[in-house]
Amino acid sequence: MEHKLNYNDLWAYAPAPEDSGHVNIRDRYGLFLNGRFQDADSGKTFETHNPATEVRLSEVAFAGETDVDAAVKAARNAFDKSWNPMPPADRGKYLFRIARMIQERSREFAVAETLDGGKPIKESRDIDIPLAAAHFFYYAGWADKLEHAFPTRAVTPMGVAGQIIPWNFPLLMAAWKIAPALACGNTVVLKPAEATPLTALKLAEVIQDAGLPDGVVNILTGDGSTGAALVNHPGIDKVAFTGSTAVGKLIQNSIAGSHKKATLELGGKAANIILDDAPLNQAVEGIINGIFFNQGHVCCAGSRLLVQEGVADEVIAKLKDRLETLRVGDPMDKNTDIGAINSREQLNTIEGYLKLGQEEGAQIHQPECSLPEKGYWCRPTLFLNATQSHRIVQEEIFGPVLAIQTFRSVDEAIEMANNTPYGLSAGIWTDKGSRIFNLTRRLRAGVVWANTYNQFDPTSPFGGYKESGFGREGGLHGLEPYVNFD
Ligand code: NAI
Ligand code: MG
Repeated sequence: MEHKLNYNDLWAYAPAPEDSGHVNIRDRYGLFLNGRFQDADSGKTFETHNPATEVRLSEVAFAGETDVDAAVKAARNAFDKSWNPMPPADRGKYLFRIARMIQERSREFAVAETLDGGKPIKESRDIDIPLAAAHFFYYAGWADKLEHAFPTRAVTPMGVAGQIIPWNFPLLMAAWKIAPALACGNTVVLKPAEATPLTALKLAEVIQDAGLPDGVVNILTGDGSTGAALVNHPGIDKVAFTGSTAVGKLIQNSIAGSHKKATLELGGKAANIILDDAPLNQAVEGIINGIFFNQGHVCCAGSRLLVQEGVADEVIAKLKDRLETLRVGDPMDKNTDIGAINSREQLNTIEGYLKLGQEEGAQIHQPECSLPEKGYWCRPTLFLNATQSHRIVQEEIFGPVLAIQTFRSVDEAIEMANNTPYGLSAGIWTDKGSRIFNLTRRLRAGVVWANTYNQFDPTSPFGGYKESGFGREGGLHGLEPYVNFD
């Protein structure tokens, strides 16, 4: 009988849970409107849960049309009376203050992010929260230097920005949206995702403590109807949206013909390409990080692996091996690699694709890890023998699922990589710089990583081609969508 080594027994760690005792999550949160927390006009609320335990964390106000209207008016008033007239260097000081306060409260933010969204604490602690602070620091620096950002052109702020964000990087997406908008002199109404409102509301506390003038930032919790009311409000000048391609298209339709400008950051189906000269151990680690990081709830996740035929068997064997040592479970445990799926709905979507992939003829492979009884969980999954026409190769799954295909020539790999409706990101693994440059030129993707994956920095622009959306966030490019060129 074949003896199967159980790595999880061999390498068992003692539990190492992060303490949550220091984190104050209020039982109820209002809308953050014109500098104060207040109930929704209708009095309606909804609950947010911990997807790892299904336990209720808090109850938050549900913003309707009248609240959206009040928030847009507050933002307009703040734009006219305080934020736009303010010397740019002073706007910068407020942004620096927000950045420092996020750093000071970073443990609290990390724990709240993990409890509300299910991502491993090591990711919220080491990636989400530090990067959110870094974005505020970075754009704080630009606030009084816009004439250097656009040296030959006069720019003015647009006015009021309506910003709608998803549940996969709640605080980080709020920072990506708010920091450049404020640095350019705009005011903001932000709508967090319904499943993960808590860190945006904690950011509202920071904004209050930092003493920003009332109405400069308004945070309205609610669902898609709240988002739609914001997009359709005649008083906003700009829409910034990150989320599904379906909603991105709706937004584009509803603002067509209006004065409103938009940036849309939508889905992805990134290919990670391993060439036969690649350092394979490093590549395998990068592939694992690319798709299993944050449970695959990442628009730029490396959800497709294209591996050159000569090294395919070795790479697949190494991937299967590595899957056995990934730790799935309690997101609050510092050793956890894969946390909880963000919601019951998202788990249903992913499970639908697991079934579909098998029906389409791909071969499923999952490790035998045990899963907690409560909460929403998905084992890291490989689909072998996937083909270009499979829906698991074409569609965004947004879960820990990797579709694997092989190729012979580099030309073939490029054609396969580009052959989806999306074009957000891609990865290349090879020993040769010349091959990297050949591929990066020909891949239709907004971001291409070489011999690494999922690296983010506030100085570097991010955004897509095709159905992945348009406009760039981050870096100098990220200022452009928040100014008018006179
Ligand atoms: P979604 O696009 O419905 O939600 C994103 C945000 O848009 C949320 O704040 C939501 O309340 C808001 N929204 C929903 N309908 C709206 C409307 N008509 N007008 C204005 N705002 C609206 O995404 P959902 O349902 O949470 O996830 C579905 C799929 O979308 C996922 O399975 C994934 O494939 C993709 N997705 C992509 C993301 C990305 O980072 N590009 C992030 C989240 C989801
Ligand atoms: Mg939640």
